Amino acid sequence: MNVTVFGTGYVGLVQGAILADVGHHVVCVDVDASKVERLIQGQIPIYEPGLEPLVRENHAAGRLEFTTDAEAGVKHGQVQFIAVGTPPDEDGSADLKYVLAVAQTIAEHMQCDQIIIDKSTVPVGTADKVKAKVAEVLAKRGRTDLGFDVVSNPEFLKEGSAVADCQKPDRIIIGTQDAATIEVMRELYAPFNRNHDKIIVMDVRSAELTKYAANCMLATKISFMNEMANLAERLGADIEAVRQGIGSDPRIGYHFIYPGVGYGGSCFPKDVQALIRTAGDIDFDAKVLKAVEARNQEQKTTLFAKILRHFDGQLDGKTFAVWGLAFKPNTDDMREAPSRVLMEALWQAGAKVQAYDPEAMEETQRIYGSRDGLTLCGTKEAALKGADALVIVTEWQSFRAPDFDLIKSQLSQATLFDGRNMFQPARMRNKGFTYYSVGRHITSA
Ligand code: UDX
Repeated sequence: MNVTVFGTGYVGLVQGAILADVGHHVVCVDVDASKVERLIQGQIPIYEPGLEPLVRENHAAGRLEFTTDAEAGVKHGQVQFIAVGTPPDEDGSADLKYVLAVAQTIAEHMQCDQIIIDKSTVPVGTADKVKAKVAEVLAKRGRTDLGFDVVSNPEFLKEGSAVADCQKPDRIIIGTQDAATIEVMRELYAPFNRNHDKIIVMDVRSAELTKYAANCMLATKISFMNEMANLAERLGADIEAVRQGIGSDPRIGYHFIYPGVGYGGSCFPKDVQALIRTAGDIDFDAKVLKAVEARNQEQKTTLFAKILRHFDGQLDGKTFAVWGLAFKPNTDDMREAPSRVLMEALWQAGAKVQAYDPEAMEETQRIYGSRDGLTLCGTKEAALKGADALVIVTEWQSFRAPDFDLIKSQLSQATLFDGRNMFQPARMRNKGFTYYSVGRHITSA
């Protein structure tokens, strides 16, 4: 099938690449000429495991093309994906200007009936707005003879496993009530719809809400567990034991109940805020979501609070080794990353940071530049040199079995603040560390 994808960000690029990989002929359109040029050269602007070879091979095979030529893009596709960004505007609601601009472009150039697919995470009611925009432009062109349908087909990819998530989806949500569109969507996704039927067809508004409900439910699980962790700390309980105790109930399950330093990334914070906003627009008070958001904001400050308490409020002139800057492992993404809240609080208090991340060093440099109080380190060991304590913010695999003797020898005091419960408190005590974690006792040698 001939497919056009507008937007070569995370969602669009991964979607385009996996569709090309199963044999569809995909044209990806982006307004950013230099990005398109780099993609043609095989340079991927984001770090995502498995994506680079997928893009390079399918591009070389002629199944995956990149262009800034929107007109050619619209002409190419039997279906047109909208996969552009929906950044939050000042009041937290999703800004639809890019989505509607693509809708306008498609309507300006379409010459035959079209299926327009909303892949971006967009508020309930967006498909109707896209429909209205396309109809308006077609009317202006005097082409009301052209038929079109707007489908909501949200993505559920996780950064760091986006390619695998798209290739093996748990579900494929198709929001439309048009029988012909459903047929085309089934054909498009047939290569991914093996073993059992993963396609769930529903009306367009339900599909739009499904995406938000899924992310908000997951964010709720995390905020709930962070609340339990804070309680456990104060009650003398161990949240890791509690986590296993409740996870064993299949109705609760083991997934997404890891306490930590709060959720970050491009989805959860934005989607929770956007749904609160959507609810507000119709005078509905989304009480649970507001609490989820508030708990998360506060959770991002808990590591700093522990550090401040440990050092009796005296952080001026202290130096901290920070391991893990990306919002989670296997990505270089620092959007809404808890590490930023921590580092900014440390700087504010007069402390210095020696930071290391396996993938996000360039991104850190881009965000903070050569800021006073920040030293970017090439290895996790280099970050330790002369620091007063080690703080772990992201649970990268390569942090799981560090050389504890080396850590001790480099720090002025053997103190570790662990935002991800990576180690056993008793073992840390035996190794001679004062060890802070989340929802567990503080242990010291
Ligand atoms: C998420 C959803 O998982 C995905 O389905 C959706 O399409 C986009 O948003 P992503 O943001 O890439 O994906 O990351 P995810 O792995 O879900 O983690 C989100 C955040 O939650 C991270 O900051 C992570 O550290 C945190 N988290 C996750 C916890 O704190 N505890 C957990 O138990 C799980």
